[in-house]
Amino acid sequence: MQLLCAVLVAFVAIKYSICANILGVIPVPSHSHQVVFWPLWKELSQRGHKVTVITSDPMNNPSLENLTEVDLRSAYQFMNLNFFQLQEEPAWKGLFTFGEFFSNLLEHIISNDKVQQLIRDKTTHFDVVMVEAFHTSALAFASRFNCPLILLSSLDGTSYAYGEIGNPAHPILHPDYALPFYNDLTFTQRIESAWSTLRIKFLQKYFYLPSQQKLVEKYFGPDYPPIEDIFKNYSMFFVNTNNVFHSIRPRLPNIVQIGGGTHLRKRNPLPVKLQNVLDDAKDGAIYFSLGSNVKSKHLSDDTRREILETFKELPYTVLWKFENENLPNVSENVIISKWFPQQDILQHPNVKLFITQGGLQSLEETIFSHVPIIGIPVMGDQMSNVANVVSKGLGLHLDYKDIRKENFKSTIVKVIQNPKYRKSVIEMAKFIEDQPETGVERAVWWTEYVIRHGGAPYMRNPGIDLPWYQYYLLDIIGFAFFITMAAICALVAMWKLTKKLNRLTADHIFEVPLGCR
Ligand SMILES: *[C@@H]1O[C@H](CO)[C@@H](O)[C@H](O)[C@H]1NC(C)=O
Ligand SMILES: *[C@@H]1O[C@H](CO)[C@@H](O)[C@H](O)[C@H]1NC(C)=O
Ligand SMILES: *[C@@H]1O[C@H](CO)[C@@H](O)[C@H](O)[C@H]1NC(C)=O
Repeated sequence: MQLLCAVLVAFVAIKYSICANILGVIPVPSHSHQVVFWPLWKELSQRGHKVTVITSDPMNNPSLENLTEVDLRSAYQFMNLNFFQLQEEPAWKGLFTFGEFFSNLLEHIISNDKVQQLIRDKTTHFDVVMVEAFHTSALAFASRFNCPLILLSSLDGTSYAYGEIGNPAHPILHPDYALPFYNDLTFTQRIESAWSTLRIKFLQKYFYLPSQQKLVEKYFGPDYPPIEDIFKNYSMFFVNTNNVFHSIRPRLPNIVQIGGGTHLRKRNPLPVKLQNVLDDAKDGAIYFSLGSNVKSKHLSDDTRREILETFKELPYTVLWKFENENLPNVSENVIISKWFPQQDILQHPNVKLFITQGGLQSLEETIFSHVPIIGIPVMGDQMSNVANVVSKGLGLHLDYKDIRKENFKSTIVKVIQNPKYRKSVIEMAKFIEDQPETGVERAVWWTEYVIRHGGAPYMRNPGIDLPWYQYYLLDIIGFAFFITMAAICALVAMWKLTKKLNRLTADHIFEVPLGCR
């Protein structure tokens, strides 16, 4: 009996020793930023951890009894941006607009009553804090609970973030994902990338970070370390990339790639009406959506007219995610709706083409569904994603400012009728799916690793605190330059001196005889 008790106690101790309190914070109110981490919260809570998530998109799944979601759907009020208009602004102004967006958003989140309760409650304890990897006041949660920090990104890391944590972020080899190119840069692109890196560093340091630091002071309290220091003190960084779709770059051992589509799932049955429409599309169907952030209703009237005229002349059924109730002059083969079950539509065998803004989650879904792509990028990582799509042969690119019936129609026909695009997509899907474990499994394992060891500071790059002039060898180049110059000066001086000496001796030798003449 005693033995049994001892065994039971030991078993319980082992089973629950790992049960941890986890706090997740995903501030950006965008479906695509949130769904990437849904499976992670689900899996961690099902493994017995107590997971609390501050999110704009709660799953509200009652069967996940260990998951508490702090509902911040209200944050969507800040998402009412017209990204087409934002693109018209000069780059520096765009950065200010985004800075303001983040300040308002973060203030809304951390001043929320439930969040404030969490911050002020002295009995609350967390073993690890997982925060979306922007330099925001939300990073202060790690200091508040004095526990390890895991950074999360639903995309690749930004160049700025990589640079801050001492990961190679060379502006020529690894331009930021917000730039419209990603490989083999021309000279002007190299200038643009270098200039953009400097500009972002400057604006972060002198405008954006001080405003976030003020929010920390106001809503967390005084005596918090600088946000930059909290960021650098991270234990792990989970980025949503994989080595097949994304370009190869060196990543530190504590940067874990969870990409390949954590949010992908098997096909659910379609609503009957949609199922019938797609079944009847014998010539094929096109799915057209610019995602949840960029809105089709913000396209210019001209562009919209050209698009509708194009669709009218095509034999394909078109499903267009359009945010207004009605759209004038829609031809019979076009169906509009504010929302479509995208993953399920893409997996219907009659869907031949996805016209997309090129957001990473949409691309993962279409690759997984073997549907080729026309990318119409607007902002964020979309430009470089679509450049990548084109270079890997998965589809073609169109500029949203230059959509005319002729080029739109010929591009659509090309991607649908030439089988090489679908073939490349299928090939890529096979490569991406061939991994030793899923991205979610990898993320869970490394999260529990951080919990088990109370952080992983030894995995940080020792170069994290290296000054930039040392990193770029500028001091050594300067020193070498100085030595070379000194050597050249010495040589010149010696040469001159020798010449002078020669002349002196020559004068001395020939002076007398010459004078004798
Ligand atoms: C919740 O966590 C407990 C252990 O803390 C575990 O026994 C239980 O299975 C978990 N519940 C769910 C639904 O995952
Ligand atoms: C760094 O993290 C550790 C816990 O992992 C914590 O004890 C320490 O205070 C943190 N330092 C800063 C500057 O955030
Ligand atoms: C609808 O089409 C007609 C004829 O092609 C045109 O005159 C009218 O301006 C169009 N309406 C809109 C709102 O584009």
